[in-house]
Amino acid sequence: MNSQQLKEEIRRLAKERNALIMAHFYQRDEIQEIADVAGDSLAMAIEAAQTDCKVIVLCGVHFMAESAAILAPDKTVLLPRTDAGCPMADMVEIDKLREMKARLPGRPVVTYVNSSAAIKAESDICCTSANAVAVVNSLDEDEVILVPDRNLGRYIAANTDKKCYFWEGYCPFHDQLPEEDVLAAKQAHPDALFLAHPECRPQILAMADLVASTSGMIDYVRTSPAKKFILGTEQGILYRLRKENPDKQFIMPNSLLFCKTMKYITLEEVLHCLQTMSPTVTVPAEIADGARKSLERMLAVPR
Ligand code: 13P
Ligand code: SF4
Repeated sequence: MNSQQLKEEIRRLAKERNALIMAHFYQRDEIQEIADVAGDSLAMAIEAAQTDCKVIVLCGVHFMAESAAILAPDKTVLLPRTDAGCPMADMVEIDKLREMKARLPGRPVVTYVNSSAAIKAESDICCTSANAVAVVNSLDEDEVILVPDRNLGRYIAANTDKKCYFWEGYCPFHDQLPEEDVLAAKQAHPDALFLAHPECRPQILAMADLVASTSGMIDYVRTSPAKKFILGTEQGILYRLRKENPDKQFIMPNSLLFCKTMKYITLEEVLHCLQTMSPTVTVPAEIADGARKSLERMLAVPR
């Protein structure tokens, strides 16, 4: 089958199976193209909780499929590549988190959705990059523990009055972005705005005109009068930005903002997964119940 035939067969089968295909903005272009919904982590969690479809094909990384399975327990959640993980999510060990909680009693644990279901179950509330500050400010306590991203943690700390304790995790792609590369892009394009994801280091965020989640960047570009943007996030976002803004120019500061596991899923794998209705992602009930509390508490926070 050529690529067009694959896309048509996926759409046909998705309809037959009553399946909703969701794709993260970092997925391959062709995967975002065939998806019913492309979104950031927050949008995908909301959609999973609300959809009437029986099946969710989650084109993203493992924690996103787990969140969908937790929020939509009556649905079948398919993840075309179960080995598509998030290295940052793997940086938290449950025993060390329990030790941290014991060392810092009374501080709620705010866990970025880029984490396993077991870590979410160990937490008080979740957040995404789109709602992190609002989530932290919604809490009564004056001190909080932020897990696992130290960069998102520092960004939250700079935007709240609460005292923050961080886990030392990071995204290997956002964290490596060097100041020199951003500076060089700014010098080459002095009329461009620099948009950075809060997973970038504080030195990078200090250089940004806007710090936002992937959906925050997309919304901003849509209404901005500016014509050029330098992007401090994973390059998959270019697909949506270019599609929506054919008159605007987008510049990547380097070629290393490339999340390998986000690119694992191919059209063939989406089709195979709809044909075989596998692999599914499930979360054991005792973990899912705890993780659901943290996710639902997050979803109840006004944005
Ligand atoms: P968003 O929630 O902004 O889409 O980010 C998810 C992610 O994995 C960023 O690296
Ligand atoms: Fe995880 Fe970074 Fe990939 Fe996002 S870009 S899924 S944080 S490794």
